[in-house]
Amino acid sequence: MRRKLFLLLVGVVALLATAGVAAAANGGFTPVTPHSPNAARTNDAYYVILAFTGAIFLIVEGALVTFIWRYRGRGRSRTVDAVQVHGNTRLELIWTVIPVIILCAIGLVVFYELPGISSAPAAANPIRVTVEGHQFYWQFDYPNGARSINDLYAPVGQVVDLEVKSADVIHSWWIPELGGKIQAIPGRTNHIWFRANAQGTYTGQCAELCGLYHADMTARVIVGTGAEYHTFVTSTAPAVLGKAEFQGVCATCHGMQGQGGYGPNLSSNPLLIQPAGLDTIVRNGRGLMPAVGNTWTAAQMKALVQYVKTDVYKGAATSGG
Ligand code: CUA
Repeated sequence: MRRKLFLLLVGVVALLATAGVAAAANGGFTPVTPHSPNAARTNDAYYVILAFTGAIFLIVEGALVTFIWRYRGRGRSRTVDAVQVHGNTRLELIWTVIPVIILCAIGLVVFYELPGISSAPAAANPIRVTVEGHQFYWQFDYPNGARSINDLYAPVGQVVDLEVKSADVIHSWWIPELGGKIQAIPGRTNHIWFRANAQGTYTGQCAELCGLYHADMTARVIVGTGAEYHTFVTSTAPAVLGKAEFQGVCATCHGMQGQGGYGPNLSSNPLLIQPAGLDTIVRNGRGLMPAVGNTWTAAQMKALVQYVKTDVYKGAATSGG
């Protein structure tokens, strides 16, 4: 009686503990709603595999529970032998052929879906954007020379072809709603694409452990109308870029106001108003600080210099305190 009560208690606790996961938007186990054709195809393959593995799970566990119950001891002595069976050719053939058929079916589905995952629709005229991974931010270069940090702007319904690179270590580009992951590897260019089917903001996360602030290496893809995209890439004012650089690159370690965090407090560091010195440290790094700006353009550096001078620098530190 005590034991049954204990088992019941364990069961109830397990149900309560997993209820939250099950109640999450997608059950916690299934992929996010796709918003790009390649993501949709990846999802299709996922559900086909889930159907097979789910059915196999139910059959195997069902048989296990049935056998445990039906052939339980019923008080027989432990030394009593059951019927001894050796070999059953028909059964063995069945449980070999069925898995082969299942694997072939899964293989067929995956190979059918694969071309539409790896290649963008042929007729589309893609926008080519370079995605460069850095410790610990993403940098985007658009066809007209515009550059943005952490936020990638794109027009709805148009194919965006991404050339994914790295300026330091291996990162991994991943916006789940817009397709799979692709690694950003130093010295190599990888390709991935998306065609967002709705306006909105799609968030993602670097998916390769790349150092101390890997977890903060997030990205957003901001999808708007064609006109909104055009406005963005033709009018990125230096002030906007400078702010994005400071908040997306420097603030990770030094705080949003330069107040310090993992990195030292910057707000009263005179280096902030010495363009040449700032340029050197941002391009080359120093000590624990990575060479965050090793691929920055002169215009980009100028935007940062301007921003930190007007918005971060608080004047020389007063002595004492
Ligand atoms: Cu970059 Cu993790």
